[in-house]
Amino acid sequence: MKKRDILETIGNTPLVEIARMSPHPEVRIFAKLEGNNPTGSLKDRIAKYMIERALAEGKLTPDKVILEPTSGNTGISLAFVARRKGFRVKVVMPENVSPERAQMLQAYGAEIVYSDGSKGTNGAILVAQEMAAKDDTYFMPYQYGNESNPRAHYETTGMEILQDLPEVDVFVAGLGTGGTLMGVGRRLKEHNPKVKVVAVVPHPDDMIQGLRSLEDGFIPPILNLSLLDSRIMVESQEAFRVTRELMQKEGIFAGISSGAVVCCAMRLAQRMERGNIVCLLADGGWKYLSTSLWTKEFAELKNTVDNKIWW
Ligand SMILES: Cc1ncc(COP(=O)(O)O)c(C=O)c1O
Repeated sequence: MKKRDILETIGNTPLVEIARMSPHPEVRIFAKLEGNNPTGSLKDRIAKYMIERALAEGKLTPDKVILEPTSGNTGISLAFVARRKGFRVKVVMPENVSPERAQMLQAYGAEIVYSDGSKGTNGAILVAQEMAAKDDTYFMPYQYGNESNPRAHYETTGMEILQDLPEVDVFVAGLGTGGTLMGVGRRLKEHNPKVKVVAVVPHPDDMIQGLRSLEDGFIPPILNLSLLDSRIMVESQEAFRVTRELMQKEGIFAGISSGAVVCCAMRLAQRMERGNIVCLLADGGWKYLSTSLWTKEFAELKNTVDNKIWW
């Protein structure tokens, strides 16, 4: 269908069965490919919702600069939507995220402020909050506390899943801000209260880009833990392995949090007798090419090199 504007191409991503990843013939696993969004991640949905809501409420006015702490994807999506709406964007990002993120942000014309890599996204949040407190030209959408984040997933991602597959038994997604899990989880449970909503988190001293463990004490304000049926930890090495397997067995080029999510779905499938599991694959593999993950050498490297050197 002809579109009038690139923003209309956000969402309506495909739901694809990944039968070769299921350890159990009676358990079907489906992947929602968010890498098919215009900037290659799920965050295009929330960037559009947050900016359009702020414009409608008069909080985002032409004199403002959009400022956001992010591990990368949200910054890229905000810069993309802001380009169309005529706003400048500044992002605060840990210095050790993949270089592709910085390159994409530059391509979309965003300015980058680096925060201490060892402090992760929590460090970026503090720096952005300090900047916003000192200078009121900044408008901070603040995805961790902005209701437009889960609402985007409630009204779009969740709806699309139900349209394509009304019989969902388990929904699995990574936990970053919690926006995906809250929005899609609420939508699916309204349709069928028996749906299980499962969050994938990294080990507290491990790292999977885009995901957070809640062990450091920061609970995003939009996150309502009572909506989650379980929280499952996946090691980054497992996430790498399954991300490669997704390519080898299914031809799906996805990011590393997607490997973690599918790894979790495979574990759950082993314990189920039958049913449908929907996995949300948050982004495509493009922003992770510098990890060498898809090279032949990676399998040997991973045993000898601490994976954190790439982040
Ligand atoms: C690659 C990746 N996966 C998963 C997530 C988690 O999504 P959410 O913030 O909706 O919890 C993010 C969030 O930044 C992400 O960048």
